[in-house]
Order: sequence, then C-alpha cells, then structure tokens
Amino acid sequence: MHKLRSLSVAKVAKVFSRLSTRLKSTGGRPSAPLGSRILTNPDDIFKHNMWDHVQWTEEDKENARQKAQENSCVQIPLDDQDTKIQGTTRRRGDQQAEILLPSGSSMDSETRHHQHSGTTHHHRHAPNCQKVRQGASPEKNEDAMQTSTFPGQHASFRILEIGCGVGNSVFPIVNSIKDTDAFLFCCDFSPRAIQLVKDHPDYDESVCHAFVHDICEEMASFPFPPQSLDVILAVFVLSSIHPKRMQGVVKRLSTYLKHGGIFLFRDYGRYDFSQLRFKKGRCLSENFYTRGDGTCVYFFTKEEVHGLFSNAGLEEIQNLEDRRLQVNRGKKVAMHRVWMQSKYRKSYPPPPS
Ligand SMILES: C[S@@+](CC[C@H](N)C(=O)[O-])C[C@H]1O[C@@H](n2cnc3c(N)ncnc32)[C@H](O)[C@@H]1O
Repeated sequence: MHKLRSLSVAKVAKVFSRLSTRLKSTGGRPSAPLGSRILTNPDDIFKHNMWDHVQWTEEDKENARQKAQENSCVQIPLDDQDTKIQGTTRRRGDQQAEILLPSGSSMDSETRHHQHSGTTHHHRHAPNCQKVRQGASPEKNEDAMQTSTFPGQHASFRILEIGCGVGNSVFPIVNSIKDTDAFLFCCDFSPRAIQLVKDHPDYDESVCHAFVHDICEEMASFPFPPQSLDVILAVFVLSSIHPKRMQGVVKRLSTYLKHGGIFLFRDYGRYDFSQLRFKKGRCLSENFYTRGDGTCVYFFTKEEVHGLFSNAGLEEIQNLEDRRLQVNRGKKVAMHRVWMQSKYRKSYPPPPS
C-alpha cells in the first residue's frame, strides 16, 4: 500500500511562514526570504521594492500616531454604524470575493439575489456531513469523533482556514498535503468565494472540504467535532470583523483545536501604511475603519493579539510585528508596512493529581 507522509504542526507552520511572505496588498512576490534584506545604507533605499525588519525612529512613531489621530477624530455615529455594519455583513463577503477575483469576473445572479433580498448567505449545514454541535463536553466530543461521519474523519492531521477567500493559501496547502495523512477544511461567509475555491482545478475533495460559514455566527456549526483540529489558519480575516466580536470568535474557534494544536494568525498591525492613508470620516471606532467598498479593517497591536489568544486559553509560541519598508521605486515613495504574525498553542490539560 502507498505509504502516506505524516504532517506535523511544525511543517504546517513552515508552509504558513512561506505563505505569509506573499505580499497581499501589492500582489507582489518578494524575491528574497523574509529577514534577508536589511537596509543598512539609507542611500540604497530605492534599490529594492521591500526592506525587512525596519526599525522605526521616534519621529516615525510620532508621525504615525498623529496621522491615525487625525483620521479617526471624526467617528461614524453609532446609529449609522449599526446600519452600515449590518448592511456590510450582508454584502462584504461577496464584495471581498469580487475584490480577490481576477478582473473581468462577475458575481452570479444567485448571489446578487441574496444581497438584494437581504437573505443571509451562510449555509448552516454543510453537505455530506453529520452535524456535531459546539459546546459538547470532552466525553461527548470523544463519542462524536467515534460515531459521526465527517469529511477528513480518517485524517490524523486536520487544518482549518477561516476566511479563505478565493483560496490564496488553500491551494499551496492542498498541493503540499497530497500524499500525506492530512486534510484541509476551508470556509468563508461568501458563497461566491467558496464556489470559486471549489471550481479551481486544484480543488481535491480527497484532501479538502470548502464550505460556507460565518465565523461570527455563534450558533452555526462546523462540519467537524470540537477538539479535532491540529491547526487553524487566519490570514487577514479577523481584522475584517468588529473588534467587539473578535474575542468570542477566537474562543469559539479554539474549542475545535486538539490539545497541542496551534492557531496561526497573520493580519494588519497598528499604524500600517493602509491605516494611515484613511481619510477622515472612515473611522468606526478606535483603529477600526470602513473602506469605500463596505469592508472593514482593524489594526492590531502585539498586546491586543496576545490578549485575544491568551484569553482563549492559548499559549504564545510567537507574537511578532513584521515591520517592512515597501518602496515604490517609480514614484520614489517609501511606505511603512506593519503586519502581525503570531502562533498560539492550546496546551495539554494538567495530568490528574
Ligand atoms: C482580506 S480577505 C482574505 C482572504 C484570504 N484569507 C487571503 O489571505 O487571501 C478576508 C476574507 O474573510 C472573509 N470573511 C470576512 N468576515 C468573515 C466572517 N465573519 N466569516 C467568514 N469569513 C469572513 C471575507 O469574505 C474574505 O474572503
């Protein structure tokens, strides 16, 4: 029989680090590995498109703080926010799918119908799987694992990507877990994004299950039992939900991790260039903004990231700010980029005394 390679958390973390060096905002691909391009001589600044591990001067910090203060001094009134965010919740997933789509693609009429009719578009039940509800006791979880059938049930290593969009991380992972004993789940609240993932030529049901799911929806169930995941991957997704909902989302998701499983997180950091260029009138609450397309974005500090994951009972493996200088050589402009890159583990319960 063909022997399957086994996958470890460390190997997935490695794939994640490689994926994370993708430059999402520019679509560019760094030609040098992260950390290898250090700007030592300021005269060299326009020799490359990106510099790693950039130290901020006190002046840089003060400028950033002032810009953020200026663009957030007018906040969208609370009443307006509710309408805006609720409206956004209905629309934003498909808009993000549109944004991530190759240009020229358009949304299908079914999705537009959902938007215009105001129907929520998350499917509560993923097909072909027996539902296992959240919040079950550990013993019940064990039972559920033994009695239920769910995609990937025979895999010994399971990964979930939340807010997978059109699959920028999904397909590198799918291609690296073929011939292993691993299985990938990926979800997004945009049916359009999930359809695109499923239609991709590399989509392979023997190693991957894509499904529509809103991570903010407390009662929505997942197509796998609690404590069944080795890795949860969140790439630029937690920043798009309301800060008040983040803690609940991380806590809920963490119940699906096995002991020893890890949560991999990559997202926007405080005072990233994309925060500082917001115009006045776009701020919803401190460090949380709405873009022109109706999507929202939050900018994290290290301390906030630590609070989110440790309050969910996870322990820090890594929590760093990836600070780079992105250079537009044509326009001779340099932009400070700040991304958070963190890994948190669900520890094992203490042995019974
Ligand atoms: C900025 S995109 C990132 C997509 C992908 N992770 C990547 O790195 O290319 C954010 C994604 O999160 C999804 N998303 C936002 N809020 C969500 C929610 N509450 N539940 C599930 N997905 C959500 C959006 O539909 C969108 O596809």
